[in-house]
Amino acid sequence: MDAFIFLFLFSVFTFQSCIIKVTYATKCGDTGPEIHYPYQIKGQQQHHEALHGFEVLCKDNITTIHFPSYGDLVVNSISYETKNIHLLDPKNCPHRVFLNLNLSLTPFHYFHVLKNYTYLNCSTTLPHPFVEVPCLSASTHHVYTVDPALPVPGSCEGIKTVAIPFAYSPYLSDNRLGLRLTWDSQDTETRNNTRGSHTWRNIVIGTSMICVFVMAMLIISISIKVGGATRNRHQKEGQLLKSFTDF
Ligand SMILES: *[C@@H]1O[C@H](CO)[C@@H](O)[C@H](O)[C@H]1NC(C)=O
Ligand SMILES: *[C@@H]1O[C@H](CO)[C@@H](O)[C@H](O)[C@H]1NC(C)=O
Ligand SMILES: *[C@@H]1O[C@H](CO)[C@@H](O)[C@H](O)[C@H]1NC(C)=O
Ligand SMILES: *[C@@H]1O[C@H](CO)[C@@H](O)[C@H](O)[C@H]1NC(C)=O
Ligand SMILES: *[C@@H]1O[C@H](CO)[C@@H](O)[C@H](O)[C@H]1NC(C)=O
Repeated sequence: MDAFIFLFLFSVFTFQSCIIKVTYATKCGDTGPEIHYPYQIKGQQQHHEALHGFEVLCKDNITTIHFPSYGDLVVNSISYETKNIHLLDPKNCPHRVFLNLNLSLTPFHYFHVLKNYTYLNCSTTLPHPFVEVPCLSASTHHVYTVDPALPVPGSCEGIKTVAIPFAYSPYLSDNRLGLRLTWDSQDTETRNNTRGSHTWRNIVIGTSMICVFVMAMLIISISIKVGGATRNRHQKEGQLLKSFTDF
């Protein structure tokens, strides 16, 4: 009986640590990416101070991250192992993001190797092999991403030369490929106010392992008890039967 009370209290304790884990590693909506250290959902009570640049927003079950130089981008997925955050442009125009996004004051940089390209804004269309960026162009102006070494055609003016993952191509430039960023581990791990939360996370993972273990033990011990009780009953029935037949 004492063992039962002990197990009961222990499972209450472990259940609590399971809840802590759930509130710690959280997500936005049912299908959103899991958000945990170094990321944090803005306005949500957490166990570590918000790290600069790692705050994400949760609105209508959509996870977004705000970049002052561009605006909000949708967080499609985060790989914590490879430090890769995959973003989607809500306006579906990755080359507008490349043109404007300035990551210099953020913990991020592009995941892919970069190359300098010049954005040209032209009053006429350029011949093949130039391909205009549809989402930046209109009937009156045509935007291209070209090699910066190329002389600027007379009908065009250079908007900006920026280091981006790739030039526009109708095959490569959709949202799925382009907007991948990585973050600096140096930047987050050497800051001493965050080391505590690292430890905390390990404790939480540790207790949830204990949680699983104790639940398993609980189930095993209950089934042994139940099994024992049935065996006892069988024995008693056997004795009863024996006394009947002896009679
Ligand atoms: C967010 O997701 C929850 C759970 O799936 C659902 O109940 C709720 O209606 C959703 N809210 C919006 C704004 O879509
Ligand atoms: C990015 O921002 C930094 C700091 O505000 C600034 O010094 C730099 O010139 C900007 N880079 C571009 C390409 O605009
Ligand atoms: C792009 O051009 C700038 C200025 O010339 C240079 O400092 C930078 O290293 C170049 N970036 C790449 C990725 O080639
Ligand atoms: C290109 O030029 C047109 C008119 O000259 C202007 O309206 C448009 O905003 C420019 N596009 C970019 C991306 O700078
Ligand atoms: C930890 O941070 C405090 C300020 O928050 C600073 O004074 C201290 O030198 C830091 N310690 C280490 C080991 O970086």
